[in-house]
Amino acid sequence: MRRHLIVANWKMHKTAVEAAAYVRRLAPLVRQAAHTEIVLAPPFTALSVASVPAGRRFAFAAQNLHWEDAGAFTGEVSARMLVALGCTYVIVGHSERRRLCGEDDSVINKKILAATGHGLRPILCIGESPAERRQGQTTRVVTRQLQKGLRGITSQDARLLTIAYEPVWAIGTGIAASPEHIHAVHLTIRACLVKKWGARVANRMRILYGGSVNPDNVVAFVQSPEVDGVLVGGACLDPRTFAKIARRC
Ligand code: PGA
Repeated sequence: MRRHLIVANWKMHKTAVEAAAYVRRLAPLVRQAAHTEIVLAPPFTALSVASVPAGRRFAFAAQNLHWEDAGAFTGEVSARMLVALGCTYVIVGHSERRRLCGEDDSVINKKILAATGHGLRPILCIGESPAERRQGQTTRVVTRQLQKGLRGITSQDARLLTIAYEPVWAIGTGIAASPEHIHAVHLTIRACLVKKWGARVANRMRILYGGSVNPDNVVAFVQSPEVDGVLVGGACLDPRTFAKIARRC
């Protein structure tokens, strides 16, 4: 059995002070969610929350990283720096970064290699756009994103990986994908992972769903044995709402 994982992607929300207040509120609300691993992904400027006492209940993820360890890269943050701050995970290839920051599969691949090189656990986000969905391209798109994004990752480093299937049309729209659609795409993803690394490695990897997850729909998603947890955006910003999702995950 893969332990369920729930990730709170705060995106560009909350200062360091607000982040500390959030974890203090959240910690007692998720005492009954011990079966689920909870990961918080604040912006870089609030990652120091990993070291406040209430933060110890959680693992932390950065929302991005640069692929070099150090150098003349103004505005960037490296895997080494994230590890030193107490991060365990890093989100890579979120559709907002692909779309708004021009990140393509080869940049994402470099970031994943950099993360695993430092023992940081990448959460690779993949998913089709609304147009690709209309054209029936979902399988082709997620397969390409996996093949290119995961190029050169050894089966040893693959153990650090989590995949998040996040159809772009479901992110922030209030229109989540159906449990049937998610189940089918997760099977496709699992098959790609098995092909790449064999069943022993692939069957241990977690595949999450993300896109308009809320306390009312989460149970329907995680009922599928192929859904190992969720990645939550908008609904994670309020600790009470996020705790409800975590308890049901
Ligand atoms: P959402 O965002 O839950 O607001 O749809 C999910 C995400 O962007 O990861």
